Amino acid sequence: MFTPEIIAQFKNTPTPFYHYNLKVLEQTLAALKSEADRFNYHVHYALKANSNSIILKTIRQFGFGADCVSGNEILKAVECGYENSKIAFAGVGKSDYEINIGLDNDIFCFNCESLPEIEVINELAEKKNKIAQIALRINPNVNAKTHHYITTGLEENKFGINMWELESVVEALKGFNNIKLVGLHFHIGSQITDLSVFKGLCIRVNEIQDWFISRNIIVEHINVGGGLGVDYENPNSNLIPDFKSYFGLFNQFLNLQPNQQLHFELGRAIVAQCGNLISKVLYIKKGVNTNFAIVDAGMTELLRPALYQATHKIENLSSTAPTQKYDVVGPVCESSDCFGKAIDLPETKRGDLFAIRTAGAYGEVMANGYNLRVLNKEVFS
Ligand code: LLP
Repeated sequence: MFTPEIIAQFKNTPTPFYHYNLKVLEQTLAALKSEADRFNYHVHYALKANSNSIILKTIRQFGFGADCVSGNEILKAVECGYENSKIAFAGVGKSDYEINIGLDNDIFCFNCESLPEIEVINELAEKKNKIAQIALRINPNVNAKTHHYITTGLEENKFGINMWELESVVEALKGFNNIKLVGLHFHIGSQITDLSVFKGLCIRVNEIQDWFISRNIIVEHINVGGGLGVDYENPNSNLIPDFKSYFGLFNQFLNLQPNQQLHFELGRAIVAQCGNLISKVLYIKKGVNTNFAIVDAGMTELLRPALYQATHKIENLSSTAPTQKYDVVGPVCESSDCFGKAIDLPETKRGDLFAIRTAGAYGEVMANGYNLRVLNKEVFS
């Protein structure tokens, strides 16, 4: 990942910054495309994971669609050349302004999460004399076995329409003249590493489809969301996620109806491994059991460790000395501003460069200006 030329380039760049390796991204996209094409599956990239223009354009060049969760993401996808007919719009709280952006851009589908939302889409579409294509996002009550903050498919979560409401929603749809039901949508969570979870989702989707079929409803599109996890511990051994097993599993266990199209909304699996947060060591400070390596990146640049107790592999790019244990911490005035405790790293000194790996997904997009901190411009290689 880090050749001497790349490290030399880092030395002349103000830290902290995000580094993206476009070769890794392209290899990931090529693998994704060949595995998805095998079954004619449609992939919509979830912009929320990373909405950097160069990354978006690279993904678009492989022909993928976009999964957006805000009006601004729809505008960005259109600006980066995504086909309107491949843009899905999800989200539990779409504003009127955002729905109108979707309508004005004739997007593929609104993934709807409640009856009141569908009523508003119908009303706004009527004003524009348009028919909005919608999918019902159904809460399948399947446990994703991941961190509770990124679990979305349980009845207790705010997402989707619960099964007990479905009858009344389907009945109400008959009264809407500016809505066309084209799909069923599911998404149970993110960073799912136990693939058997997706088998459970398939079985549940089959049951839900049976419910619809028994009411003579067969939709054109099934969308099973995203969620495929990546290897944060050993990124180098698993730079490219196992798309083959992932899609193979849906092919094996999901019962599609004739001509029914299957859609995915992957975010993390596409962009996580191509991105790293590069940071400089400011100070080494003696601790009780380990030393602190105080770096110039913090929870303001990469929030995941503070928010989800996530771990990212840390590498010292400047030292090959024997290892010692360090608590790697940021400069922000919060004890949760910590990237890892008692990490084995080559002996480290002020000025060394650290790479915080697997930071391409939900890294730069979640950066914030707490403490009036500003992120430096990203670097591509
Ligand atoms: N579709 C829907 C409806 C979603 O809510 C999400 C992610 C995706 C697709 C893409 O999921 P992915 O393939 O990336 O797992 N900030 C958290 C992750 C939040 C995920 C939110 N939804 C993190 O840093 O782990």
